[in-house]
Amino acid sequence: MNIAIITGASSGMGKEFVLKLAPILRKTDELWLIARNSEKLEEVENALKGMNIVPEIKVFPMDITDENKLKQFTEAMMILNPKISVLVNCAGVGTYGAFDKQSREETTEMVRLNVLALTQLTKICLPYMRKGSKIIQVASGAAFRPQPEFAVYAASKAYVYSFGRALAKELKQRGIVVTTVCPGPVETPFLEHAYGRYGELSKLKKLVMANTEKVVAQAIKDCKKKKEVSIYGLPMKLLYGLSRGVIR
Ligand SMILES: NC(=O)c1ccc[n+]([C@@H]2O[C@H](COP(=O)([O-])OP(=O)(O)OC[C@H]3O[C@@H](n4cnc5c(N)ncnc54)[C@H](OP(=O)(O)O)[C@@H]3O)[C@@H](O)[C@H]2O)c1
Repeated sequence: MNIAIITGASSGMGKEFVLKLAPILRKTDELWLIARNSEKLEEVENALKGMNIVPEIKVFPMDITDENKLKQFTEAMMILNPKISVLVNCAGVGTYGAFDKQSREETTEMVRLNVLALTQLTKICLPYMRKGSKIIQVASGAAFRPQPEFAVYAASKAYVYSFGRALAKELKQRGIVVTTVCPGPVETPFLEHAYGRYGELSKLKKLVMANTEKVVAQAIKDCKKKKEVSIYGLPMKLLYGLSRGVIR
Protein backbone atom coordinates (compact mmCIF):
# COMPACT_ATOMS: atom_id res chain seq x y z
CA MET A 1 0.00 0.00 0.00
CA ASN A 2 1.20 3.46 -0.96
CA ILE A 3 0.42 6.29 1.46
CA ALA A 4 1.06 10.02 1.88
CA ILE A 5 1.05 11.73 5.28
CA ILE A 6 0.38 15.39 6.09
CA THR A 7 0.60 16.79 9.62
CA GLY A 8 -1.11 20.03 10.57
CA ALA A 9 -3.77 19.04 8.04
CA SER A 10 -6.69 20.65 9.89
CA SER A 11 -5.77 24.27 9.15
CA GLY A 12 -3.72 26.82 7.21
CA MET A 13 -0.89 25.54 5.09
CA GLY A 14 -1.31 21.88 6.06
CA LYS A 15 -4.93 21.97 4.87
CA GLU A 16 -3.78 23.65 1.65
CA PHE A 17 -1.17 20.89 1.12
CA VAL A 18 -4.02 18.36 1.40
CA LEU A 19 -6.21 20.22 -1.11
CA LYS A 20 -3.34 20.62 -3.58
CA LEU A 21 -1.73 17.19 -3.25
CA ALA A 22 -4.88 15.01 -3.17
CA PRO A 23 -5.71 15.58 -6.88
CA ILE A 24 -2.13 14.97 -8.09
CA LEU A 25 -1.20 11.89 -6.03
CA ARG A 26 -2.37 9.44 -8.69
CA LYS A 27 -0.32 6.47 -7.44
CA THR A 28 -1.11 6.90 -3.76
CA ASP A 29 -3.76 4.65 -2.18
CA GLU A 30 -4.33 6.57 1.04
CA LEU A 31 -3.77 10.15 2.17
CA TRP A 32 -3.44 10.39 5.94
CA LEU A 33 -4.41 13.68 7.58
CA ILE A 34 -2.98 14.31 11.05
CA ALA A 35 -3.86 17.03 13.59
CA ARG A 36 -5.62 17.11 16.97
CA ASN A 37 -8.99 18.58 15.97
CA SER A 38 -11.08 15.74 14.51
CA GLU A 39 -13.96 18.00 13.42
CA LYS A 40 -11.68 20.24 11.41
CA LEU A 41 -9.97 17.20 9.86
CA GLU A 42 -13.39 15.88 8.82
CA GLU A 43 -14.21 19.27 7.29
CA VAL A 44 -11.07 18.96 5.17
CA GLU A 45 -12.08 15.41 4.24
CA ASN A 46 -15.55 16.66 3.25
CA ALA A 47 -14.06 19.43 1.13
CA LEU A 48 -12.47 16.72 -1.03
CA LYS A 49 -15.71 14.79 -1.56
CA GLY A 50 -16.89 14.84 -5.15
CA MET A 51 -13.42 15.75 -6.41
CA ASN A 52 -11.70 13.45 -8.84
CA ILE A 53 -9.00 12.09 -6.51
CA VAL A 54 -7.36 8.67 -6.31
CA PRO A 55 -6.26 8.37 -2.66
CA GLU A 56 -8.73 7.40 0.01
CA ILE A 57 -8.70 10.04 2.77
CA LYS A 58 -8.02 8.80 6.30
CA VAL A 59 -8.12 11.15 9.27
CA PHE A 60 -5.96 10.54 12.33
CA PRO A 61 -6.83 12.95 15.13
CA MET A 62 -3.78 12.88 17.38
CA ASP A 63 -1.41 15.06 19.34
CA ILE A 64 1.96 14.36 17.73
CA THR A 65 3.80 15.54 20.85
CA ASP A 66 2.23 12.65 22.79
CA GLU A 67 4.81 9.87 23.10
CA ASN A 68 2.10 7.17 23.49
CA LYS A 69 0.40 8.26 20.26
CA LEU A 70 3.74 8.16 18.44
CA LYS A 71 4.31 4.62 19.76
CA GLN A 72 0.89 3.57 18.43
CA PHE A 73 1.71 5.25 15.11
CA THR A 74 5.03 3.36 14.93
CA GLU A 75 3.26 0.06 15.64
CA ALA A 76 0.63 0.78 12.95
CA MET A 77 3.47 1.34 10.48
CA MET A 78 5.13 -1.94 11.43
CA ILE A 79 1.87 -3.85 10.91
CA LEU A 80 0.87 -2.13 7.65
CA ASN A 81 4.39 -1.92 6.21
CA PRO A 82 3.32 0.75 3.68
CA LYS A 83 5.35 2.61 1.10
CA ILE A 84 5.32 6.29 1.99
CA SER A 85 5.35 8.45 -1.13
CA VAL A 86 5.09 11.83 0.61
CA LEU A 87 5.54 13.12 4.16
CA VAL A 88 4.63 16.75 4.83
CA ASN A 89 5.66 17.86 8.31
CA CYS A 90 3.58 21.02 8.56
CA ALA A 91 2.23 21.04 12.14
CA GLY A 92 3.83 23.86 14.08
CA VAL A 93 3.19 26.55 16.64
CA GLY A 94 4.72 29.89 17.58
CA THR A 95 4.19 32.38 20.37
CA TYR A 96 5.53 35.89 20.12
CA GLY A 97 6.90 37.68 23.19
CA ALA A 98 9.99 38.10 25.33
CA PHE A 99 11.34 34.76 26.55
CA ASP A 100 11.13 35.72 30.23
CA LYS A 101 7.45 36.70 29.83
CA GLN A 102 6.40 33.49 28.16
CA SER A 103 5.19 30.53 30.19
CA ARG A 104 7.22 27.35 30.46
CA GLU A 105 4.33 25.53 28.76
CA GLU A 106 4.45 27.87 25.75
CA THR A 107 8.19 27.59 25.21
CA THR A 108 8.13 23.83 25.76
CA GLU A 109 5.25 23.33 23.30
CA MET A 110 7.21 25.09 20.54
CA VAL A 111 10.22 22.81 21.00
CA ARG A 112 8.14 19.65 21.45
CA LEU A 113 6.06 20.23 18.33
CA ASN A 114 8.34 22.12 15.95
CA VAL A 115 11.53 20.21 16.76
CA LEU A 116 10.87 16.91 18.53
CA ALA A 117 7.63 15.76 16.86
CA LEU A 118 8.92 16.70 13.39
CA THR A 119 12.14 14.77 13.99
CA GLN A 120 10.33 11.74 15.42
CA LEU A 121 7.82 11.54 12.56
CA THR A 122 10.62 11.80 10.01
CA LYS A 123 12.46 9.01 11.85
CA ILE A 124 9.37 6.79 12.04
CA CYS A 125 8.43 7.29 8.37
CA LEU A 126 11.86 7.13 6.70
CA PRO A 127 12.23 3.29 6.73
CA TYR A 128 9.09 3.14 4.57
CA MET A 129 10.34 5.60 1.97
CA ARG A 130 11.87 4.59 -1.34
CA LYS A 131 13.45 6.15 -4.43
CA GLY A 132 11.08 8.94 -5.54
CA SER A 133 9.62 9.51 -2.05
CA LYS A 134 9.41 13.11 -0.89
CA ILE A 135 9.68 14.87 2.45
CA ILE A 136 8.49 18.45 2.86
CA GLN A 137 9.67 20.05 6.11
CA VAL A 138 7.87 23.29 6.89
CA ALA A 139 10.36 25.65 8.55
CA SER A 140 10.01 29.45 8.31
CA GLY A 141 11.84 32.60 7.27
CA ALA A 142 12.33 32.96 11.03
CA ALA A 143 15.03 30.30 10.56
CA PHE A 144 17.29 32.75 8.73
CA ARG A 145 18.42 34.77 11.75
CA PRO A 146 17.84 34.97 15.51
CA GLN A 147 14.67 36.89 16.35
CA PRO A 148 14.35 38.72 19.67
CA GLU A 149 10.73 38.47 20.92
CA PHE A 150 10.36 35.31 18.87
CA ALA A 151 13.47 33.59 20.20
CA VAL A 152 12.33 30.01 20.77
CA TYR A 153 10.19 29.89 17.65
CA ALA A 154 13.00 31.20 15.42
CA ALA A 155 15.48 28.79 17.03
CA SER A 156 13.09 25.87 16.52
CA LYS A 157 12.75 26.76 12.83
CA ALA A 158 16.53 27.18 12.48
CA TYR A 159 16.68 23.56 13.66
CA VAL A 160 14.14 22.49 11.00
CA TYR A 161 16.10 24.35 8.31
CA SER A 162 19.43 22.82 9.32
CA PHE A 163 17.96 19.33 9.78
CA GLY A 164 16.07 19.47 6.48
CA ARG A 165 19.06 20.57 4.46
CA ALA A 166 21.41 18.02 5.99
CA LEU A 167 18.85 15.25 5.48
CA ALA A 168 18.43 16.28 1.83
CA LYS A 169 22.15 15.62 1.31
CA GLU A 170 22.07 12.31 3.22
CA LEU A 171 19.08 10.98 1.27
CA LYS A 172 20.05 12.20 -2.21
CA GLN A 173 21.89 8.94 -2.99
CA ARG A 174 18.71 7.02 -2.20
CA GLY A 175 16.63 9.20 -4.53
CA ILE A 176 14.55 10.64 -1.67
CA VAL A 177 13.91 14.38 -2.01
CA VAL A 178 13.78 16.65 1.04
CA THR A 179 12.49 20.19 0.52
CA THR A 180 12.57 22.66 3.41
CA VAL A 181 9.95 25.37 3.10
CA CYS A 182 10.75 28.82 4.55
CA PRO A 183 7.78 31.16 4.32
CA GLY A 184 7.56 34.68 5.67
CA PRO A 185 4.25 35.69 7.26
CA VAL A 186 1.33 33.79 5.71
CA GLU A 187 -2.40 34.51 6.17
CA THR A 188 -3.34 31.60 8.45
CA PRO A 189 -4.70 31.20 12.02
CA PHE A 190 -1.06 30.78 13.10
CA LEU A 191 -0.57 34.57 13.27
CA GLU A 192 -3.55 35.18 15.54
CA HIS A 193 -2.24 32.52 17.90
CA ALA A 194 1.35 33.78 17.68
CA TYR A 195 0.69 37.47 18.20
CA GLY A 196 -2.77 37.52 19.78
CA ARG A 197 -1.69 37.75 23.39
CA TYR A 198 1.53 39.66 23.15
CA GLY A 199 1.20 42.36 20.54
CA GLU A 200 0.68 43.48 17.04
CA LEU A 201 2.12 42.11 13.85
CA SER A 202 4.67 44.68 12.61
CA LYS A 203 3.92 46.88 9.58
CA LEU A 204 6.74 45.19 7.67
CA LYS A 205 5.30 41.73 8.32
CA LYS A 206 1.86 42.94 7.22
CA LEU A 207 3.42 44.35 4.06
CA VAL A 208 5.12 41.09 3.07
CA MET A 209 2.18 38.86 4.08
CA ALA A 210 1.78 35.99 1.62
CA ASN A 211 -1.23 34.06 0.41
CA THR A 212 -1.45 30.47 1.74
CA GLU A 213 -2.38 28.99 -1.61
CA LYS A 214 0.60 30.58 -3.39
CA VAL A 215 3.14 29.56 -0.74
CA VAL A 216 1.99 25.93 -0.85
CA ALA A 217 1.84 25.87 -4.66
CA GLN A 218 5.44 27.13 -4.74
CA ALA A 219 6.52 24.51 -2.18
CA ILE A 220 5.02 21.66 -4.22
CA LYS A 221 6.57 23.02 -7.43
CA ASP A 222 10.00 23.31 -5.77
CA CYS A 223 9.74 19.81 -4.33
CA LYS A 224 8.90 18.40 -7.78
CA LYS A 225 12.03 20.19 -9.05
CA LYS A 226 13.98 18.50 -6.22
CA LYS A 227 14.93 21.86 -4.69
CA GLU A 228 16.37 21.69 -1.18
CA VAL A 229 14.80 24.98 -0.11
CA SER A 230 11.53 26.61 -1.10
CA ILE A 231 11.08 30.33 -0.55
CA TYR A 232 8.06 32.20 -1.79
CA GLY A 233 8.24 35.85 -2.87
CA LEU A 234 10.94 38.44 -3.49
CA PRO A 235 11.07 39.93 0.05
CA MET A 236 11.79 36.55 1.62
CA LYS A 237 14.29 35.64 -1.12
CA LEU A 238 16.14 38.91 -0.44
CA LEU A 239 16.13 38.25 3.31
CA TYR A 240 17.46 34.75 2.66
CA GLY A 241 20.24 36.15 0.43
CA LEU A 242 21.18 38.70 3.09
CA SER A 243 21.24 36.10 5.84
CA ARG A 244 23.52 33.81 3.78
CA GLY A 245 25.88 36.69 3.01
CA VAL A 246 25.14 36.30 -0.70
CA ILE A 247 23.84 39.87 -0.83
CA ARG A 248 25.87 42.49 1.03
N1 LIG B 1 1.49 31.40 9.09
C1 LIG B 1 2.72 31.89 9.09
O1 LIG B 1 2.93 33.11 9.09
C2 LIG B 1 3.89 30.94 9.04
C3 LIG B 1 5.10 31.44 8.55
C4 LIG B 1 6.19 30.59 8.47
C5 LIG B 1 6.09 29.28 8.86
N2 LIG B 1 4.89 28.81 9.35
C6 LIG B 1 4.83 27.41 9.73
O2 LIG B 1 3.88 26.76 8.90
C7 LIG B 1 3.36 25.61 9.55
C8 LIG B 1 1.86 25.60 9.42
O3 LIG B 1 1.33 26.70 10.12
P1 LIG B 1 0.04 27.48 9.65
O4 LIG B 1 0.45 28.87 9.37
O5 LIG B 1 -0.69 26.71 8.64
O6 LIG B 1 -0.74 27.54 11.06
P2 LIG B 1 -2.09 26.90 11.58
O7 LIG B 1 -3.19 27.22 10.63
O8 LIG B 1 -2.21 27.35 12.99
O9 LIG B 1 -1.82 25.34 11.53
C9 LIG B 1 -1.08 24.64 12.49
C10 LIG B 1 -1.43 23.17 12.38
O10 LIG B 1 -0.67 22.43 13.34
C11 LIG B 1 -1.56 21.53 14.01
N3 LIG B 1 -1.08 21.22 15.34
C12 LIG B 1 -0.78 22.10 16.33
N4 LIG B 1 -0.38 21.44 17.42
C13 LIG B 1 -0.43 20.11 17.13
C14 LIG B 1 -0.14 18.93 17.85
N5 LIG B 1 0.31 18.97 19.13
N6 LIG B 1 -0.31 17.72 17.26
C15 LIG B 1 -0.77 17.67 15.97
N7 LIG B 1 -1.03 18.77 15.22
C16 LIG B 1 -0.87 19.97 15.80
C17 LIG B 1 -2.89 22.29 14.04
O11 LIG B 1 -4.00 21.43 14.19
P3 LIG B 1 -4.81 21.12 15.55
O12 LIG B 1 -4.94 22.40 16.29
O13 LIG B 1 -6.08 20.54 15.02
O14 LIG B 1 -3.96 20.12 16.24
C18 LIG B 1 -2.91 22.91 12.65
O15 LIG B 1 -3.41 21.98 11.72
C19 LIG B 1 3.89 25.69 10.99
O16 LIG B 1 4.97 24.79 11.11
C20 LIG B 1 4.35 27.13 11.14
O17 LIG B 1 5.39 27.23 12.07
C21 LIG B 1 3.79 29.62 9.44
